[in-house]
Amino acid sequence: MASQNPWMQKPARGEPQPSDDGLVVDSATLAVADRVVLRELSLHVPLGETHVIFGPNGAGKTTLLAGLMGMPHVKIVWGDIRWRGASLLGFDITERVRRGLAMAFQRPPAVSGITLRRLTELILSNNGNGNAGAPPPPEEVQQRIFTLAERLDVLDLLDRDVNAGFSGGETKRSEIFQVALQNPQLVLLDEPESGVDVVNMDRIGRMIRSLLQRDERPGNRTVTGLIITHSGYILNYVNADCGHVLADGRIICSGNARDVFEHIHEHGFEACAQCPPCQVAERLRRRRES
Ligand SMILES: Nc1ncnc2c1ncn2[C@@H]1O[C@H](COP(=O)(O)OP(=O)(O)O)[C@@H](O)[C@H]1O
Ligand SMILES: [Mg+2]
Repeated sequence: MASQNPWMQKPARGEPQPSDDGLVVDSATLAVADRVVLRELSLHVPLGETHVIFGPNGAGKTTLLAGLMGMPHVKIVWGDIRWRGASLLGFDITERVRRGLAMAFQRPPAVSGITLRRLTELILSNNGNGNAGAPPPPEEVQQRIFTLAERLDVLDLLDRDVNAGFSGGETKRSEIFQVALQNPQLVLLDEPESGVDVVNMDRIGRMIRSLLQRDERPGNRTVTGLIITHSGYILNYVNADCGHVLADGRIICSGNARDVFEHIHEHGFEACAQCPPCQVAERLRRRRES
């Protein structure tokens, strides 16, 4: 039943949230170009957890992340979005980035005329998300670029124009590197595996695992994650805390991410639509135990 699943519980409208409550989407209705795409959607990602969203094409997954990030083409026509207890609705993208949000796009654009190194310099000179005091001295910026690029495996991309002529895997590595530079607290990843070959998938999977601190003990994790995945490959690298199915403009099921993915793999999204909310994980658990 819905009430047995903590991730499906709808926070009461207007109820004050504790400041460390993570991400709360509270009955949000999101519209794009005057068309409602998501209707009264509720979702809770507690601080330090990583949740995964599955859903068919056109379900509104990208719209959800764009709405969280504050992209102007998405209008929140009802409901609320809160991060760490504060509503984000009055804040533009810049302010949301300052508050720790960062997003890796499904299809980021190529930017000719600026190298990834130059972009990295600009981000680091601005202290990642523009939040902390004075910018570091230039020599420290260069040292940090090297250290971060080496750790995140993008040294080979630094002196190329951002995403220009990059392969699918290179684009995603560059994108996740840029997200990491922003010192994010809430990481939104839109299909990080799409267009990525097996070898790059391994590198990207390890980058995301590190970014989301999945090797830390749960109580020590300070980064919260929301990942949209179509293929589910990312689950091989990120032991997500919860999986949700987004279809018909709302979350129709939530449970153990792997169980939900296996169920979709076996029966398709159509079966999810007919399954009462929150029953999938429970049924799979009983089946395993029997
Ligand atoms: N900028 C836009 N203008 C008009 N319609 C859009 C725009 N972005 C998304 N949509 C529509 O919103 C719906 C959800 O799209 P999207 O969020 O991209 O789905 P998903 O990421 O789940 O595949 C689709 O019907 C899509 O055509
Ligand atoms: Mg999408």
